[in-house]
Amino acid sequence: MFFLYSSVNKVEKSLKAMNIEKSEVKAVFSNQDGPHTNLQELVLKYIQTKYLRPIAEHTQKAFELAKEFVKRRNCPIILDSGCGTGRSTQVLASKYPNLTIIGVDKSEVRLSRSGMPQKNVMYVRAELLDFWRLALQEKWPIQYHALYYPNPWPKESEAGRRFHLHPIFPTLLSLAPYTELRTNWEIYAEEFSMAACLASEKMGLHLSIEKHNFQPTIPETAFEEKYAKAGQILWKVICKTKNTSVF
Ligand SMILES: C[S@@+](CC[C@H](N)C(=O)[O-])C[C@H]1O[C@@H](n2cnc3c(N)ncnc32)[C@H](O)[C@@H]1O
Repeated sequence: MFFLYSSVNKVEKSLKAMNIEKSEVKAVFSNQDGPHTNLQELVLKYIQTKYLRPIAEHTQKAFELAKEFVKRRNCPIILDSGCGTGRSTQVLASKYPNLTIIGVDKSEVRLSRSGMPQKNVMYVRAELLDFWRLALQEKWPIQYHALYYPNPWPKESEAGRRFHLHPIFPTLLSLAPYTELRTNWEIYAEEFSMAACLASEKMGLHLSIEKHNFQPTIPETAFEEKYAKAGQILWKVICKTKNTSVF
């Protein structure tokens, strides 16, 4: 009993030290108790259709600037989608100084907290659903696509907003030979890997897909740190082409 109380106290203390409210780190609550029942139907439908929503003007402009940066650096790219405050972008930039790292997020507030970018980094405020289509159209040499802790949209009725149950999914899967999703919701990880297996086979992408839980030794994103400190189980899904060994 005492042990339980003291370990709860420890978690609360470390959250306090990080200025985090306990309510911010609740585990994902959903009215789904397993993968979405329409997953197969939606994935199959979206690989046969083209997502045609017009590209937002602000994303088009932001992409043009990013395109110049990419051209100037003339080297392979790591895309950090939904980079938030840019912590993972900085980690990736330090790990891979010879690659170009593009961190994209729609939130100006979060991006404004990212600090001075390293010289191989560009932060872009943009809508991912549009940015991904532009990057694919431009045939950007993206080696690694980091999709760390996307919004889970846990209500069953909102499932269509999850990237893998959205018409954007074929574009997302085609962007890079290595995509890594991280999430604190196992159902999201399971759905993402099921959708990737199905789409990969139907699209002839020949991806190998693995899902596993992990414990970060040093958290690489702001959300990862919160979830890890709150004792939550974290999940990774890696989708890679068979001959990719860089990452
Ligand atoms: C849960 S946060 C994770 C942030 C960061 N990856 C981390 O782990 O700390 C999800 C981020 O994705 C961004 N985001 C969600 N949907 C987006 C979209 N459609 N286009 C651009 N950014 C998006 C949000 O603004 C938010 O910063």
